[in-house]
Amino acid sequence: MKISVIGAGYVGLTTSACLAELGHQVFCSENDPQKLAKLQNGDLPFFEPYLEELFRKSRAKGRLQLGSTEDAIDWGQCIFICVGTPPLDNGDADLSAIERVARTIAKRATGYRLVIEKSTVPVQTANQLCRHLSLHKNNQLEYDVASNPEFLREGSAIENFFHPDRIVVGAESPRAQQLMQEIYQPVLDAKFTCPVHKNCQPRTNVPFLVTDTNSSELIKHASNSFLAMKISFINAVADLCEAAGADVSKVAEGIGLDPRIGASFLQPGIGFGGFCFPKDLQAFVRIAEKFGCDFSVFKEVEKINHNRIAQFKEKLKKELWVLRGKKVAVWGLAFKPNTDDIRFAPALVLIRQLLAEGAIVQAYDPQAMDNTRNELPQVTYCNDPYQAAEGAEVILVLTEWDEFRHLDWSRLATLVERPLVLDGRNALKSKDVAAHGFQYVGIGGVSAMPTQASSLVGA
Ligand code: UDX
Repeated sequence: MKISVIGAGYVGLTTSACLAELGHQVFCSENDPQKLAKLQNGDLPFFEPYLEELFRKSRAKGRLQLGSTEDAIDWGQCIFICVGTPPLDNGDADLSAIERVARTIAKRATGYRLVIEKSTVPVQTANQLCRHLSLHKNNQLEYDVASNPEFLREGSAIENFFHPDRIVVGAESPRAQQLMQEIYQPVLDAKFTCPVHKNCQPRTNVPFLVTDTNSSELIKHASNSFLAMKISFINAVADLCEAAGADVSKVAEGIGLDPRIGASFLQPGIGFGGFCFPKDLQAFVRIAEKFGCDFSVFKEVEKINHNRIAQFKEKLKKELWVLRGKKVAVWGLAFKPNTDDIRFAPALVLIRQLLAEGAIVQAYDPQAMDNTRNELPQVTYCNDPYQAAEGAEVILVLTEWDEFRHLDWSRLATLVERPLVLDGRNALKSKDVAAHGFQYVGIGGVSAMPTQASSLVGA
């Protein structure tokens, strides 16, 4: 099928490369000329596992073209809108980019088109889109509007596309529903080459949920807000575990064994970040307010999340007393592992506060240092976790990169000024760290004192 994708951000590029891999003829547009030139040169604007190979492969096979919005609109019968919907100051989603695309489609497209919103949008946006298209459409355009929310997670976006928990489609017309089914048929039939797993056995019963557009739009916001709520829930429980002398990892394990609760997204830490949860939660609360619904529960979710950094800094000050002039090693900058994305990253919020109190920050992240340099030039960026630990009074683990679980702690003991680890993600094994003479302080009552005198410290 000839498919157009408007917008080459996370969702747009991933969707384009994956639809091309399914065998569709895809045209992806980027209206920023410099970004477009880089893409045409094969350079992606962000790191995402497997995406670069898939992008280059689809380009080489001639199944993925790049160009302007106008060219894309002229190309596909199905047009995915994947432009950004960043938060406005009042928390509403900014829909101006979507409106611009709709206006261009209305004036330019001819024949039948299925306009598919994939960007995260407030409920009733598809109705607005429909109305806007009917107001501005040329008389050769016939169209339907559908909603197809995206659930990809950064760091595993390609895997999420080919192995979705569900595919949600909001569409009223049978023609639109049929076209959406055709687009995803290879995934539903498990007829694709998985770019992630060797000898992949994809499931053949992926739910294809067809609803009205309003429900489909709400599924997205509600899903993200529920997941954010689950994280704030376990973070609140972690505080109680710390105060009451319990172990949050045991509590999470115990409650997660109940399939009605489920073990995922019960990892306590310094809070959720990224470009989705914070803004989607805000937008969800705003939407509810507009409809006169009380969503104060989600305001609490935001508040709990917001307080994680201050609580973690208090823990640090309890150990270090004065921060001024102290060398602090930071492991992890990205808002989560396997991405270079630092948008709304808790690590950066904390580092700014440490710098403001005169701490000397030495940081390492496998992917996100380039993105962070511009934001925090005062930080010393290191080649590896060991260099970051040199002369440090404390090691802060702020992103749970797997790399940090496979380090030489005997060597680290010779590098640090003080053998102290504050793990903001409970990423490390407390006993292993303590066995090398380090004091380990995790989240939610997970802690360990050195079980061996660190004779090497500061040697
Ligand atoms: C999220 C949703 O998961 C995805 O379905 C949606 O399409 C986009 O938003 P993403 O933002 O990429 O995806 O990251 P996710 O893996 O959900 O993590 C979000 C934040 O929550 C990260 O900062 C992560 O560190 C934090 N988190 C996640 C926790 O603190 N604890 C957990 O148990 C899980």
